Amino acid sequence: MGSRKPLIAGNWKMFGRGADLAEIGALAETIGAAASKIDVLICPPAVFVAPAAWQTRDKPILIGGQDCSPNAADAARTGEVSAAMLADVGATYVIVGHSERRQNHKESDDLVRQKAEAAMAAGVTPIVCVGETQAERAAGQVAEVVGRQVKGSVPAQGAFVVAYEPVWAIGGNSTPTLAEIAEVHALIRETLAGQFGAQANETRILYGGSVGPKNAGEIFTVEGVDGALVGRASLKAADFSAIILGHPAAV
Ligand code: PGA
Repeated sequence: MGSRKPLIAGNWKMFGRGADLAEIGALAETIGAAASKIDVLICPPAVFVAPAAWQTRDKPILIGGQDCSPNAADAARTGEVSAAMLADVGATYVIVGHSERRQNHKESDDLVRQKAEAAMAAGVTPIVCVGETQAERAAGQVAEVVGRQVKGSVPAQGAFVVAYEPVWAIGGNSTPTLAEIAEVHALIRETLAGQFGAQANETRILYGGSVGPKNAGEIFTVEGVDGALVGRASLKAADFSAIILGHPAAV
């Protein structure tokens, strides 16, 4: 793991209401001292980013967005939220290029990179998601697809995070084997090293896709896994704290 501080991020997707923000307070209570050794992040839906950031201003929990506009400057872009706006209300991270956006909104690598760069320009750390579909894995194209996504989607410079999320593992009950996870994480780091040299050793690479309290512990032991991006199991403090406390750095 080297000097990379683990990051465990929760992606609430389009779930939750104002009342569910109480889960974030409960999470802060439960994780206790582990929060000094692990960066813990919650990415609620856009309308809840501001209240969540306000609620956690004196707590060791970071708040992020789930997406941002590729436009760095204020612009006539109805419905979009800029990274600068996320930063303004207290967000420090933003997920970009999640497979649900790549698929449902036809987001290209190029657009994802523009979003990541807009985030960097606003001082917000982008979490750039990559990952193959089931068909691509079956066709033996994992290295090609993930390599292409990494090269095309990460910003030209600066500190960013990459999340490896095999599309077929999201929202289900199946995950790659630990060896498969290690293999793709190594491939991502190698690709980053080709672009950024030794600096690639500082980039945190998260695993995401059906991470829960039962499998997180073993996934965290995989070489090159610097944390997780968690969907479903991040909605309830009980589940998410069990994942965080299951990280070897938590003890
Ligand atoms: P999941 O989602 O943990 O519910 O599989 C992960 C993600 O899509 O980020």
